[in-house]
Amino acid sequence: MALTLPPLTYAYDALQPYMSRETLEYHHDKHHKAYVDTANNLLKDSPLADKPLAEIVKESHGKNPALFNNAAQAYNHTLFWQWLKPNGGGAIPGKLERALIESFGSVEEAKKQLIQGGVTQFGSGWTWFALKDGKIEVLKTPNGENPLIHGAIPLLGIDVWEHSYYIDYRNRRLDYLQAVVDHLVNWEYVAERFEAGVA
Ligand SMILES: [Fe+2]
Repeated sequence: MALTLPPLTYAYDALQPYMSRETLEYHHDKHHKAYVDTANNLLKDSPLADKPLAEIVKESHGKNPALFNNAAQAYNHTLFWQWLKPNGGGAIPGKLERALIESFGSVEEAKKQLIQGGVTQFGSGWTWFALKDGKIEVLKTPNGENPLIHGAIPLLGIDVWEHSYYIDYRNRRLDYLQAVVDHLVNWEYVAERFEAGVA
């Protein structure tokens, strides 16, 4: 059961002007594809090969760094494309909104901490809303690491590797994060994950 590269569910230019066609072509068709292909090569003859991707990520962590890095990035990016949508960033569904207020005091504070996580992640990585013990928290992680290996469920992750923003924003990581939160986040999908509570 090989890992796959799911196609985008929107057009390559659908996220403009906040994320360009060129960024999506490189990020999805080259970077994401390379993680999937490399993970599939490393999974050949591995006992993990038939497990769900989330299990491969958890079980390779700390044991097989090359497989972990590529499998985790395959997992992260498959979700990342679903966390974005054209005309995103609008109203947050009620249940999720209430949970964010409970965990952070306000939605604005929750978004601020998420963005701050991305700005302060040194080098490549991700910033997350993660569900742990019934509460939503912000996590920042280096490279391909994600909330799964911290015993949490990723509700929303924003990629802060330079390949995700350098074409459109150069070094302005904060502007990229702000644009994603304000204009691209698919809150319905975040809410779906929150309500399902599964990885
Ligand atoms: Fe990426």
